[in-house]
Amino acid sequence: MNKNSGHSSFSKSLLSWFEKEKRTLPFRKNKDPYKVWLSEVILQQTQMETGIIYFEKFIERFRSVHDLANAEQEEVYSLWQGLGYYNRAKNLHKTAKIVSKTKGGFPKKYESLIKLPGIGRYTASAISSICFNEKKYVVDANVYRVLSRLFGIKTNIKKPKAYNDFYELTSSLGKNVKKTGDYNEALMDFGGSVCLPKNPKCENCIFKKRCFAYKNNLIKTLPVKNQNKKVKNRVFNYFVFENKNVLLVKKRSKKDIWENLFEFYLSENKSSKKAIEYLKKNVKITLPEPNKKSSFALLSHQKIHVLFYHYLIQTKEDIVSLKKTLGMKVLKKTDIKNLGFPKVIDNYLKSHC
Ligand code: ADE
Repeated sequence: MNKNSGHSSFSKSLLSWFEKEKRTLPFRKNKDPYKVWLSEVILQQTQMETGIIYFEKFIERFRSVHDLANAEQEEVYSLWQGLGYYNRAKNLHKTAKIVSKTKGGFPKKYESLIKLPGIGRYTASAISSICFNEKKYVVDANVYRVLSRLFGIKTNIKKPKAYNDFYELTSSLGKNVKKTGDYNEALMDFGGSVCLPKNPKCENCIFKKRCFAYKNNLIKTLPVKNQNKKVKNRVFNYFVFENKNVLLVKKRSKKDIWENLFEFYLSENKSSKKAIEYLKKNVKITLPEPNKKSSFALLSHQKIHVLFYHYLIQTKEDIVSLKKTLGMKVLKKTDIKNLGFPKVIDNYLKSHC
């Protein structure tokens, strides 16, 4: 079998598998670019099962790109809550505003789509191929996994050059396919339901006979994923001031992680001593002993060690005094769901407030 006939037999087998086995997904009902865009952005943050729940929540609240464009940023953030990496939510909102004002709605071409905030190579390929049948190919974690195993490719997928290598391979494998969108979705579905990261279903796999990784016992080795990055450690001391049904919170405004999300009074320092001294000196009330809890947040390049010092403040006057001195906002506990918090704080709120 020459190289090209091998290629077209791969895409043919994959597509006939897809015809029979494709998942019924809510954003597949019609090829509405708004829904495809929204689902692809969400699916970059979470697994399919959770992604569907978020997708349906967004669609229920924002039926069209115009509804999303007209929303307050806080509301978009609160719906995004739990997905993390709020820059994506911010860009989702920005792009909705641009598209909503554009005659004709979403651009149809990859080259125009990629100019929109938050739309990178992956999302532009997905939208242009799925909705407009452009010959653009997606490379995501599924594609890396399926193709590296099947063809025994040992390129480290964390290296920037991996994207181009795999793009070339998948586009050459799919070049004779008429519906590029189906080919892309078939590869992703295959990675999401057969060629799984852990415990792939090799015994029932249609490619069992020709899969390099299966034949060479390399399923656990491929794809090669060597992280070569330094993780920065930071310590966040959070002072939680609570009085009956209210809490003190503040919006993060600096260009840093969690920009525009809400948090408790923060002192970033290895020790909480300085902040406690500052509070004692500046806040003219006697603080009770705090309840202490710890947690952490693992981001792509940072590990945040989070310490919570939870103070039950006795009187309304004291909470107002703290609010003024520390420049905080009083938040009713019943309104918590209307604001965006980093996940680590969200979890804390759910179990301690
Ligand atoms: N994962 C991300 N996007 C997907 C899609 N369109 N189909 C299947 N799996 C996906």
